[in-house]
Amino acid sequence: MKKYIALALMVTGTAALAHGGVKDPHVMHRMMGMSELAKQMKLIGAMAKGVMPFDADAARAALLNISREASEIPALFETAATDPKSEALPVIWDEFDSFTSRASELESLTRGLAGTVTSEADLRPVMQQLGKACGACHSDFRE
Ligand code: HEC
Repeated sequence: MKKYIALALMVTGTAALAHGGVKDPHVMHRMMGMSELAKQMKLIGAMAKGVMPFDADAARAALLNISREASEIPALFETAATDPKSEALPVIWDEFDSFTSRASELESLTRGLAGTVTSEADLRPVMQQLGKACGACHSDFRE
């Protein structure tokens, strides 16, 4: 439990740092959405590594939270807002369809995965697929 609290503090601490000094409210909102994705993923990762006790309901809830948050990505990025602290590449708004399709892939992937989690061993493939889905968008659309 102590470890879990330390991890939670670490995650929120990192998020606060990443957002520090962001002035544009659209950029701030989309960064907060991304941090929420990372928070849910860290929780699943902590269970996959045994740092946190396995809890199927909590893992499923985290996946469904990711799915819901992913469904908000298109709206969060609709405005082509910029900020000196932003890592978003301008190509997002040139290829918005392709960008939003990465978001809907993450949305449907996590909704589907939520139904597959019954044991700790299921979390390793979940983490791999999650990592791929986040990376598929970051590699093209984030600095
Ligand atoms: C559809 C594209 C897309 C998907 C899918 C996506 N991201 Fe992102 N992510 C971005 C973009 C673009 C940025 C840069 C935003 C900015 O700096 O304005 C970003 C930034 C981030 C950040 C930094 C936020 C900050 O405070 O600066 C984190 C953390 C992050 N993403 C985590 C994730 C995780 C975890 C997943 C998967 C569960 C994920 N992302 C899926 C596009 C995506």
